[in-house]
Amino acid sequence: MSETTNDRAAWLKGGDAQCRVPPPLKRKPRRLVLLGAPGVGKGTQAELIHERLGPCQLSTGDVFRAAKSSCEGERSPALTAALEHMRRGELVPDSTVLDMVRERARCIRCHGGFLLDGFPRTVTQAEALDRFFSENGITLDAVLSYELPIEKIVARLSGRRTCEKCKAVYHVETRAPRIPGVCDHCGCGLVQREDDRPPAVRIRMDAYERSTKPLADYYRGKGLLICVAAEGSPEEIFARTHAALEQRGI
Ligand code: AP5
Repeated sequence: MSETTNDRAAWLKGGDAQCRVPPPLKRKPRRLVLLGAPGVGKGTQAELIHERLGPCQLSTGDVFRAAKSSCEGERSPALTAALEHMRRGELVPDSTVLDMVRERARCIRCHGGFLLDGFPRTVTQAEALDRFFSENGITLDAVLSYELPIEKIVARLSGRRTCEKCKAVYHVETRAPRIPGVCDHCGCGLVQREDDRPPAVRIRMDAYERSTKPLADYYRGKGLLICVAAEGSPEEIFARTHAALEQRGI
């Protein structure tokens, strides 16, 4: 991982963990939510937005995956159950997700802003987040909703490889690492996620249709939704995202 990239320790580890590189002080930090089906490319865009515009990627999926590599004896029963839901491709119960986010509330209050990736994922979570924002005087700038036909999403998921340590995301064809199987950032091994196997992918897509897609209407109603076509290369999608944010003065 490069010296300027945030290791997101405060978010990934929780408790009193500190990020190795504190976020730069911005005159106007960006506060964004990323929406979209599993595998559409939210994490990839989050990495580009973080590198170029500053806010840190707060992915709930990454927190669960980081907890998975921690010692089994240290996990609460709720977390053990959450990891089992995740392995099957199901959503983790709202109460577990909300407890985990509350424990990391300082990352949402961070002066560098944030990119919430994978949270909220249900209307119950979105309502809880709204309450947190109003209690803390935080204003959400926009919700970026990435859209792509399902066949293309499945192709992205099946070729995905993730760094087991720093969680950087690659694709065997479209975003290959310099050395096959090795992370460009930290040199650790790349693995395929358990929930990228076909049976779990089907369950994840169903959960998305049922529970997460309605969030687009929820945020459209608040005037925050920006739809971004997720066709093309990551750079092209980033350029579209950046232009849409600039157009709104974000
Ligand atoms: P989470 O980690 O949030 O996964 P997800 O939403 O399923 O999203 P993904 O990480 O799979 O995909 P992505 O959109 O980030 O795509 P990526 O950039 O990697 O959640 C996992 C699980 O945790 C859930 O199923 C649930 O169990 C649990 N969970 C988490 N949060 C929860 C919550 N709030 N409530 C309840 N449960 C929760 O890209 C995919 C691939 O495509 C990569 O290989 C990438 O290199 C490639 N790619 C990206 N962009 C392009 C492009 N433009 N062209 C070609 N290839 C591309």
